[in-house]
Amino acid sequence: MRRAIYPGTFDPVTNGHLDIIERSCRLFDEVVVALLMNAHKTSLFSIAERLEILGEVCSHNFGAKVKVKSFRGLLVQFTSAEKANAIVRGIRAVADYEYELNMANMNRRLAPEIETVFLMSSGSYSYVSSRLVKEVYQLGGDITGLVPAVVEASMKEKLRT
Ligand code: PNS
Repeated sequence: MRRAIYPGTFDPVTNGHLDIIERSCRLFDEVVVALLMNAHKTSLFSIAERLEILGEVCSHNFGAKVKVKSFRGLLVQFTSAEKANAIVRGIRAVADYEYELNMANMNRRLAPEIETVFLMSSGSYSYVSSRLVKEVYQLGGDITGLVPAVVEASMKEKLRT
């Protein structure tokens, strides 16, 4: 069984993330979407909200092949605990590369048996990030097609309160 971990903060999950998950499913038998529970990071959605949204979106789009879990602490420890030997990360543009390379090298130092697999984002999502989506939406811009419908609805709900 080839199992990969796709980690992130997913605040919120975008269609760019879903594109990477879809392509990971072609390479691995099972993909665990791993939500980092980071208390220090200011976020729009709570961990519980992000888990619920991710669960709904992943079961709708990918079925049983994709599991959604949360983790604390080191990613490599979570990866080993899940009996996975690959971490998937998406690279959108050159700007992502240095950050991702440093993380991959650090993770390799911590756990040489775990490989980081980089997938190039589809060109149509190369500029899409959770941060930009939130900013554009909060300023009244249109984010249709950049996030799943449930995310757009949740953002609408959140910004009303
Ligand atoms: O969606 P993000 O914010 O780009 O995801 C970053 C993430 C969650 C992959 C990274 O912050 C992470 O792995 N954190 C867990 C703590 C850890 O293992 N740190 C060392 C990584 S080099």
